[in-house]
Amino acid sequence: MGIKYNETNRIFKLDTPKSTYMFGIVDEENFVGHMYYGRRIKDEDLSYLMRNPSVLPSKSNRDRVNFLDSLPMEYSTHGIGDFRESCLSVKTADGHSACSLSYVSHVIYKGKKVLEGLPATFGNEEECTSLELVCEDKVLKLRIILTYTVFEKLDAITRSVKIINASEEPIYLTKVLTTCVDMDNKEYDMITLYGQWAKERMINRRKITDGKNLINSLRGVSSHQEQPFIAVLDHNAKEEQGEVYGFNLVYSGNFMAQAEITHLDMLRVTLGINPVDFCWKLDKGAAFTAPEAVLVYSSEGIGAMTRTFHDLYRSHLIRGGYKDKKRPILINNWEATYFDFDTDKLLDIAREAKKLGIEMLVMDDGWFGDRKDDNTSLGDWFVNENKLKGGLSYLVQEVNKIGLKFGLWVEPEMVSPDSELFRAHPDWAIQIPGRSGALARNQLVLDISRKEVREGIYESIHKVLSESNIEYVKWDMNRALTDLGSVSLSGDTQGELYHRYVLGMYELQDKLTRDFPHILLENCSSGGGRFDPGMLYYSPQIWTSDNTDAIDRLKIQEGTALIYPLSSMGAHIADCPSHSNGRITPLSTRGYVALAGTFGYELDVTKIPEADRNLIPEQVAMYHKYNDLVREGDYFRIASYQENNEYDCYSVVSKDKKEALVTFIQVSARPGFI
Ligand code: GLA
Repeated sequence: MGIKYNETNRIFKLDTPKSTYMFGIVDEENFVGHMYYGRRIKDEDLSYLMRNPSVLPSKSNRDRVNFLDSLPMEYSTHGIGDFRESCLSVKTADGHSACSLSYVSHVIYKGKKVLEGLPATFGNEEECTSLELVCEDKVLKLRIILTYTVFEKLDAITRSVKIINASEEPIYLTKVLTTCVDMDNKEYDMITLYGQWAKERMINRRKITDGKNLINSLRGVSSHQEQPFIAVLDHNAKEEQGEVYGFNLVYSGNFMAQAEITHLDMLRVTLGINPVDFCWKLDKGAAFTAPEAVLVYSSEGIGAMTRTFHDLYRSHLIRGGYKDKKRPILINNWEATYFDFDTDKLLDIAREAKKLGIEMLVMDDGWFGDRKDDNTSLGDWFVNENKLKGGLSYLVQEVNKIGLKFGLWVEPEMVSPDSELFRAHPDWAIQIPGRSGALARNQLVLDISRKEVREGIYESIHKVLSESNIEYVKWDMNRALTDLGSVSLSGDTQGELYHRYVLGMYELQDKLTRDFPHILLENCSSGGGRFDPGMLYYSPQIWTSDNTDAIDRLKIQEGTALIYPLSSMGAHIADCPSHSNGRITPLSTRGYVALAGTFGYELDVTKIPEADRNLIPEQVAMYHKYNDLVREGDYFRIASYQENNEYDCYSVVSKDKKEALVTFIQVSARPGFI
């Protein structure tokens, strides 16, 4: 296993337990051509698979275009003859956009380096091997470093790209995708995860048709609408059979993922930062690092791809004290009270919750500034003493005395126009001068690409978290980015704002998790709008959806669990009838559904029917009994409720295969059909 270089044939072979990935250096111009990705093979040289036209460019420049447009590329570049989707394009001071890539040198080493400022998978010297392929564009004097990591025990390979400007002039990067994989077109299907608010991650499987099959986000976040994920699979692939290639970007901003059937019956899969509205000025000597892509291969169907993603993310992406630990059972007051709460109400809920075995009270939106509804106060991170008499410290102390931990909701990236923060710093919001920026949920987005904005906001959040015994934070983000403009960027660098925003947010999350390592962080974005691998690097769990109806949740959790581990899915037992859709569902059913995630409550325990209250201790016991298995086990989809619309069934099996939990939920019944 690991990574081998065959010096004679100039071929790199990357082996995981059941997959092989191969590419090589082609002709005197040192182009890097892709050869193979698939089932593990013994062969050391598959260069014939490149169907490399015998006419080499160096022998006949007239045929160079044909050559470059047909060679399977490891990392395609724009403007020199490959007309398929490219990964890299530039704009020079003279306005040229072409770039080229030729191999210079490489290094293979045990372990994996961190990606500066970006989330990424990790592994030690026993767990993985990495390859750095140094390439260059001689004319532009750009160095392009393609990095690959192979995990020893998992059929997963990661890729990332670093571009260094070794010239004397600035160069503008107008497109830097992370991954390109060229394959023969075998009439594949593709799977993507689409959705909307309250209906995230629906599984969309369709035939890959001629041309470009694109999904993307331009919302500034990975989004409710599409996931930075694409799987390419045999038309006949099912849960337990067939070849599947899964691609997931470890990133929380604009992305594109595309399966393109090109001429000569080839398939090119590309994944990376969305090039739309992206333009990065690379000064002399500066470097740009693109986010990491995860590639998972399975020859044993979709289920094996799922389990590889789960294992990789649980062991090599999620971090922190709660990484491998059972999470406290929380009760969140959002659906219990919305904005209408005070100290007494929260303490009543806490007292009742404690009796039932619940372990933490989370105070959601509405505790700060003058926040009575969603019109005001985002950015004013000081407690509203009219609501919370005695202040936050008093409340937290009382909750702790009752015997519960305390958690808090914040939305650090946002500002309400009606807030002290905005009145003091109107220029802190992302905006275009002269244009009245679009409000969404009555709020604007803070320009956290700017250091002073990050520092200002972090200071106020830090103060709140340091003054009381807060053991959990729900970090929310309730709108997409529009009207992109930053006062700190010049005309030629405004195209950096989307990505700088994401980097700023990562820096804030990194600071928070370092300064408060004991805090359990849960990310959230209007429900599940930011459920992506980038966020999992900072928080071991993410709120899956604002739709808390147990039956709708079956579909949402099924789609989420296609790639993300159950341990990361925020799942609560909510009120009845459901606030999401009015559906009436027994508390027991709601409990079984929430058991597949982090488990908690989102209702007023002082107001629910006595019979329901009496059931909660049993549910709590059930959580304690099964959570280790749910968190650590292998997940198998037995039936898809997204497909059949009648019932759901899945199981979690312990790694030693001694224990299994099977969940079956009958949603609708038709006589004669069960
Ligand atoms: C978002 C979250 C909810 C809740 C509200 C509060 O919609 O997803 O869970 O926290 O914000 O405003």
